[in-house]
Amino acid sequence: MEATPITTPTSSGTVYTVPATDSSKHDSTQHSAAASDTASVIEIWGGQTLSGHIPISGAKNSALVVLGGTLLCSETCRIRNIPDLMDIGRMASVLTALGLKVSRNGSMLDIDASHVSHSKAPYDIVSKLRASFFVIGPLLARLGVARVPLPGGCAIGARPVELHIRGLQALGAHVHMDHGVVHAYVPGARGKLKGAKIYLDYPSVGATETLMMAATLAEGETILENAAQEPEVIDLANFCRAMGAKIRGAGTNTITIMGVPSLHRTDYSIIPDRIEAGTYLVAGALTRSEITVGPVDPDHLSPLIAKLRETGSKVEIENRSQIRISPGEKIAPADVQTLPYPGFPTDMQAQFMALLTLAEGNSMVSETVFENRLQHVAEFNRMGADIRVKGDCAIVRGVSHLSGAPVTGSDLRASAALAIAGLAAKGKTTLYGLHHLDRGYEKFEEKLTNVGARLRRIPLSEADEAAQPTITEEPAIAAALK
Ligand code: UD1
Repeated sequence: MEATPITTPTSSGTVYTVPATDSSKHDSTQHSAAASDTASVIEIWGGQTLSGHIPISGAKNSALVVLGGTLLCSETCRIRNIPDLMDIGRMASVLTALGLKVSRNGSMLDIDASHVSHSKAPYDIVSKLRASFFVIGPLLARLGVARVPLPGGCAIGARPVELHIRGLQALGAHVHMDHGVVHAYVPGARGKLKGAKIYLDYPSVGATETLMMAATLAEGETILENAAQEPEVIDLANFCRAMGAKIRGAGTNTITIMGVPSLHRTDYSIIPDRIEAGTYLVAGALTRSEITVGPVDPDHLSPLIAKLRETGSKVEIENRSQIRISPGEKIAPADVQTLPYPGFPTDMQAQFMALLTLAEGNSMVSETVFENRLQHVAEFNRMGADIRVKGDCAIVRGVSHLSGAPVTGSDLRASAALAIAGLAAKGKTTLYGLHHLDRGYEKFEEKLTNVGARLRRIPLSEADEAAQPTITEEPAIAAALK
């Protein structure tokens, strides 16, 4: 059962409060976006051509880690361009559970971290929001002690955190596991981490962020080698630098951090969400429409733009912060391999696969970042696509059209991919499992409706019950379509 909403609206905005005695209420539902929506579905009528501009919100993944980063500073930071999403509410809940005061006014959050009263993050939120594990770095740097439950696996893979832990150990932390909780502390009276040279076996985004935050307050110099180069890592580095941290090389594979004794307040704005922008660009390509999206940094979308052009779309950059997509003669096939940045993002794999289902020819999609991120294939096949999975590859044979169907997203991006496939399909698609979609897309239906799409959110009870898929029948349906 979902926990009780604990938002406290005020005239100046929303104050996040968490009763310290009741951990069951440390839930995302305190933020102002829709509560975890398992009670609704979205109906989508395909076949409309889209036209106009889709505004892009602040980057979810940047915002999440920057919120965690506010723990590093014992003053109040103001963070702007925060999207109104369930995941953001969850991260705010973690911070309030640790003793911080968080208040929201529109897309602006004020976070007062002058008082950190707890060093233990609550399990019920960390288990729902993997990114909340990343508070382990700043907590340890600030307090010399942190206790964070292991986040566990999720729909797209096991998602271990050993790179975070090994890096923190290299910085001098003692780490052990007890009843599913990672206990980390810095020995010695000063409780200060010590700079070190750390080679990451894999350029993990989260591990790079955890260790970069931890190193900002460590004694001496830390060098992160084989670091992640994602734009969100650069955004976090810029935020930390705005607080007075000394960081060089973010955006390259070697990041150098010279520890400072303390950080100070700042007013910082989050970058636009490249994955949200990318999702709508693919929606434009799928529906053979001309639309613009922005603001967004086109450089952040280079691999997607290259692949959209390869599949025949015309893509133009306007004013350095807006992208226009318009249809070419046909949708051509393309092979795609997901890779760490600047490779093709795993977070765009499902949406791009939706486009390839309608290509004139065969494409291959290979997922190298997460081991279990092709679950949407069965759902696309339910809509009439022709996709076969072999290991971590999907072979997509283009079909002439998709047919609307009841579908369920297995994760956030899979849900968005199914929704935009529905925009191009014949007839009605009913999307179930909206708790995934609401984690990462602000005003999803509104933004699409404003450019001419036909979709609406309705209570589950009003959806065609006969059409509702069940977990057990999904494989049977996919097989029957073959
Ligand atoms: C972040 C993004 C997520 C995106 C992913 C890859 C956030 C909140 N989420 O997730 O949307 O899909 O980057 O671009 O920013 N790994 C290990 N050991 C570790 C850490 C990671 O083996 O200690 C593996 C993971 O299991 C995965 C791969 O490394 O197979 C990439 O994971 P990582 O880059 O860490 O992703 P996240 O930071 O979790």
